[in-house]
Amino acid sequence: MKVTKAVIPAAGLGTRVLPATKSMPKEMLTIVDKPAIQYIVEEAVNSGITDILIITNRGKGIIEDHFDRSPELEQRLLETGKKDIYEQVVSISKLANFYFIRQKETKGLGHAVNCARSFVGNEPFAVLYGDDVIIGDDPACGQLIRAYEKFGKAVVGIKSVPEEVISKYSSLRVEHLESNIYNCTDMVEKPQTKEEVLSTYSILGRCVLTPDIFDILDNTEPGAGGEIQLTDAMRTLAQTVNITGVDFTGKRYDMGDKLGILQATVEIALKNPALGDAFKAYLKEIVAAL
Ligand code: UTP
Repeated sequence: MKVTKAVIPAAGLGTRVLPATKSMPKEMLTIVDKPAIQYIVEEAVNSGITDILIITNRGKGIIEDHFDRSPELEQRLLETGKKDIYEQVVSISKLANFYFIRQKETKGLGHAVNCARSFVGNEPFAVLYGDDVIIGDDPACGQLIRAYEKFGKAVVGIKSVPEEVISKYSSLRVEHLESNIYNCTDMVEKPQTKEEVLSTYSILGRCVLTPDIFDILDNTEPGAGGEIQLTDAMRTLAQTVNITGVDFTGKRYDMGDKLGILQATVEIALKNPALGDAFKAYLKEIVAAL
């Protein structure tokens, strides 16, 4: 079955980016000239996704506004002859069919994904974490969808992370299948001891799930940090029917982390056709004086 639906959980509290995220959702933090979540939506659309559910909560109404029309602004842009930016503004609302639901309590990523049950129905669906921006020529979500089509199992996007930080991530037991594809048979969220570490491969930011995840999530108890962890539910799939891991190409930026935000800004600005050259010259000047 073709994967055309995606879920973007964006209801976290963003405590690592306070005070910026006191009233501004981290998913709306700007990278050069677009909010982070727009890069994520564009990646989904470039991967063949047509319907996107964004999981929000109180205070995140500006996410809905960003993907809606804005008649007054559009009118003004037209009247003042700003045709290029007018077209850019209008095109945002046409990227996909957007749906929104509120996660009423911030009980974890697994709980947020479980809010998508009625939107998803009985289809496989992609999950793009709202604070993970991935930039690359081949959209990461599309790479996972291709692996789903080939192997017919749930898929996780994986990368090897430095051993000293694995306790902040998940850790996966994997066997190599072919090129950048692995078979995953077990996983643990935020391993606390050396014995719990299964490998340095971790799930980063993207997965394609099958609808059987919802019954599993219904029965998943709070795990690390007292939250209902998506990894704990995916572990059941990994241990029973296995999950496919794709060591995706593309650079991931963690928008839930202050350093990650700075890295995204610098690297994406350098690639920007209008600003890149001027920004590079500026950076060289700054770096020479360090
Ligand atoms: P994180 O754990 O990185 O987000 O969740 P957080 O809870 O906002 O982070 P900190 O630790 O407080 O800074 C990964 C993704 O899952 C969403 C977040 O918005 C983020 O996109 N999420 C997390 C939810 O939608 N609901 C939750 O209850 C938790």
